[in-house]
Amino acid sequence: MTLYAKITGTGSVLPPRRVSNQELTLELASLGIETSDEWIVSRSGISFRHFACAETLTSDLATQAAQRALTAAQLDPQKIDLIIVATSTPDHLGGFPSTACVVQEKLGIHNNCAAFDLQAVCSGFIYALSVADKFIRAGMHQHVLVIGAEIFSRILNFKDRGTCVLFGDGAGAVVLSAHKEPGLLATTLHADGRYRNILCVPGSVGAGALQGQAFLHMDGPAVFKFAVHVLDKVAQEVLTLAGLDTQAIDWLIPHQANLRIMQSTAKKLGVPPEKMIITVDQHGNTSAASIPLALDSAVRDGRVKAGQHVLLEGVGGGFTWGAALLRM
Ligand code: UT7
Repeated sequence: MTLYAKITGTGSVLPPRRVSNQELTLELASLGIETSDEWIVSRSGISFRHFACAETLTSDLATQAAQRALTAAQLDPQKIDLIIVATSTPDHLGGFPSTACVVQEKLGIHNNCAAFDLQAVCSGFIYALSVADKFIRAGMHQHVLVIGAEIFSRILNFKDRGTCVLFGDGAGAVVLSAHKEPGLLATTLHADGRYRNILCVPGSVGAGALQGQAFLHMDGPAVFKFAVHVLDKVAQEVLTLAGLDTQAIDWLIPHQANLRIMQSTAKKLGVPPEKMIITVDQHGNTSAASIPLALDSAVRDGRVKAGQHVLLEGVGGGFTWGAALLRM
């Protein structure tokens, strides 16, 4: 029998502290940094973001999102046989032990299931979904937790107004299970390391000390140009792989980085604006968490329904980009 992978539950979480553009503008002014609600909204579409408190770890957000996805899927956590956490802000320096192993412990899963982190920055959730799909279709795993979780505020330089107003914290998760009917119809992944320096954290650790910088660096206009160039192409590519066309898309869920990039992609694809799920205004850019956060909010408010086609797509540091076409 052919095996497929299907999303059987979604969940997400945002840290309680919700920061408006006005509040952030005042905070930045106290550091001598000038910005405005008008600039942030007109350039990015962002009005709010959530910031985690100092005690919260990425694994805490990932665990809460996973618990909600497990509840929605009505699945006993002990049935999970693989956990993948897409993150660029893992709990531990060097990324080990992996955040996925910490999540396994926090969820109380004691079945020795496999667990690992996956690093593809803002495309991380698409990459993780694609990997989980292959593992399920190969018959290797039955129930996979695919999580995107970030505390990007930890790597923001609040003296760099070109980046610190854009990002936020949060987590989203799905339970992806083996199924007799197709759920994940197609995925496609890409990377081009020649563009690695336009969005990066230009630091490393050596001799027990930080070398370089631990802050996110972004050449905004270059990233903007790159994203606009690849996003409609990768969406067309995943549709072709699934043997469908744009008319089949019920919902478009792009990575939530910039409303102008999202609108331009939808327009190029010929997807009407009302078919695009938008959370960037409320969440800012939460990197690997942005797509599962948007998916979960649209599932929970009843827009995304069983049987509908949902196109997910992302682009981020590396550079990486990819898309996934789902039948819910
Ligand atoms: O998650 C991965 C994907 N990431 C993205 O997709 C982000 C892609 N890039 C972008 O979203 C946009 O490039 C930004 C929102 C980052 C910037 O928008 P932009 O229209 O490309 O603006 P810019 O960087 O060209 O800056 C325009 C002006 C500059 O001033 P001058 O040189 O024209 O005098 C900046 O210094 O805006 C200034 N500026 C600001 N002004 C007020 C930059 N940041 C701010 C700010 N407040 N926060």
